Amino acid sequence: MAKEGIEPEYVNLRKTREGKWPSPNDFDGVLVGSGIKIAKWTKEAESFLKMNKDCFQGKKPLGLFVSCGTAVQDKEQARKDYLEAIIETFGLTAAMYEAFGPLYDLSGSSKMGFLDKRMLKMASEKSWEEAGLQIDKNGRNDFREWEQIEEFGKQFASILE
Ligand SMILES: Cc1cc2nc3c(=O)[nH]c(=O)nc-3n(C[C@H](O)[C@H](O)[C@H](O)COP(=O)(O)O)c2cc1C
Repeated sequence: MAKEGIEPEYVNLRKTREGKWPSPNDFDGVLVGSGIKIAKWTKEAESFLKMNKDCFQGKKPLGLFVSCGTAVQDKEQARKDYLEAIIETFGLTAAMYEAFGPLYDLSGSSKMGFLDKRMLKMASEKSWEEAGLQIDKNGRNDFREWEQIEEFGKQFASILE
């Protein structure tokens, strides 16, 4: 993004106290993203959208993205379930939105907890097989489309001029 002549600020909403979250008013535009767990956005990302919804109803350019399992099998479904749904819930105006594939880090050095790993394997094993996805059940499976993600960031930057 810096290459596009803008100065991005990255904020991990989960690791920052809510009182310290920046205001969208201090930026030309805001990209908000989340991983999806049990069909839900991360609580903090959803709260951020909710508390700033007035800004994100046309006043401030907003881009939304998710990383989720559904996107690797059916991108259109993922866009509907996890992006169009939240846009409708909060009445947002999103200049751009996209669903990207998941990271299934099942390796020993994964940040994913034991229970999450078990839940993911139990809930998804059948659909992985049906979709013909090759999953290393003890490894790091990165299905995020990095070229498309970069392109998405560039396109968002280009509308901020
Ligand atoms: C416990 C658990 C539940 C998940 N539930 C869903 C789901 O309901 N729908 C989906 O598309 N992906 C689901 N996923 C896949 C995640 O969205 C995917 O791994 C994503 O890359 C996680 O991003 P994060 O690590 O930033 O949270 C789930 C993953 C885990 C571990």
